[in-house]
Amino acid sequence: MDAPYPHNQLNRQDGNALNMDSTNTKYIYFHRPCLGKEEETEIIAAMRSGWITTGERTKKFEKKICDFTGSPYAIGLNSCTAGLHLALLCCGIKPGDEVITSSITFASTANVIIHCGAVPVFVDVDNDTLNINPEEIQKHITKKTKAIIAVHFLGQPCKMDEISKIAQQHKISVIEDAAHALETVYKGKKVGSISGFTAFSFYATKNITTGEGGMLTVQDEAMADKARIMSLHGISRDAWKRYSDSGYKHWDILYPGFKYNMFDLQAALGIHQLNKIESFWIKRKSFVEKYNQEFMDIPALEPVPQNLQNENDKNAYHLYVLRIRPKYLKSSRDEIMNMIQQSGIGLGVHFRAVHLMHYYASTYGYEKGLLPVAEDNSDRVFSIPLYPSLTDDNFGYIVDTVKKVIKSVTK
Ligand SMILES: Cc1ncc(COP(=O)(O)O)c(C=O)c1O
Repeated sequence: MDAPYPHNQLNRQDGNALNMDSTNTKYIYFHRPCLGKEEETEIIAAMRSGWITTGERTKKFEKKICDFTGSPYAIGLNSCTAGLHLALLCCGIKPGDEVITSSITFASTANVIIHCGAVPVFVDVDNDTLNINPEEIQKHITKKTKAIIAVHFLGQPCKMDEISKIAQQHKISVIEDAAHALETVYKGKKVGSISGFTAFSFYATKNITTGEGGMLTVQDEAMADKARIMSLHGISRDAWKRYSDSGYKHWDILYPGFKYNMFDLQAALGIHQLNKIESFWIKRKSFVEKYNQEFMDIPALEPVPQNLQNENDKNAYHLYVLRIRPKYLKSSRDEIMNMIQQSGIGLGVHFRAVHLMHYYASTYGYEKGLLPVAEDNSDRVFSIPLYPSLTDDNFGYIVDTVKKVIKSVTK
């Protein structure tokens, strides 16, 4: 086991991904980052440069993300969560406002709405993609609705034309949660260049990683300036400029900002991870296709199909999600997951419906029955390993184990 804090590092939304005997070398992790010599060399160079916080490497990584996504502005941050929070604040979200989002997402998509004092309004998803359903958005618009956060689940593009049309009709903002979706393309347009604000994640399990980290792409210059200032205490100049040799500059506080900036040791990883993004994607895509072939014909299993919905779409293939079909099975999803994990395979759940989580249910009175598609999937999904360094042996073992376990509990 080479991760120093294994239970913290990957356990967040990945269930008990590493909850097993660390001496078992055969264990297949739910995720392993693919970091190589290039990242190692760059991080050492950053350490030796004498500048390890936000500086030139962060700027370089931001520029590379602009080039990759086609967005004019990108702000390096310490998480995607920070990006979502800043985006909401830049859109002027304030106490009493309502923000519509999907319940099939990670905690932070909803939590940041609360951090603005606003009310999260969860709407149901499409069963094929588990992406937010635009017709459901339309039904939940009120006078208080001020923004929509669209989550590109697994890196499949949301129906952005329909969502943008609703937003324009009601003069509300669209923010994209692209934590899974750095490679995603919607009808020929790269995610990151479509809506006013798009937040990406470089968390340890993401398509490319900086350990922890995120990026917010922004279309408007004034908004990008505001988000950048808000990301570093709301002060008017970042530390890099303050101590540069262009002369001492006093800084001022323009907003009560946050400590959300990315720093150069993270960017040192990101720069080289981004160079490898296509090769990582090709590997994940091929595993998705092979998993589909293996699992499509098992009546008790139903993968989230991950089919492309439009011409010129691209799916980022961030995760591989299987759904059980309970009517064929004697065991629950959680029992099945335990059996697979006990055979040495790390699993995750993406996602249990957020509106039924303790805080949201008890604060807003959300009850079962409100969002039938999200709730049904919430009890049936589990994710199996999908990352470039999986070997053919790993792949074979995962497929055999899942099939064996499912067969053993089929009615
Ligand atoms: C859909 C979604 N949104 C947001 C986040 C938050 O990303 P970060 O950990 O970079 O804040 C995640 C992270 O797992 C996610 O899956």
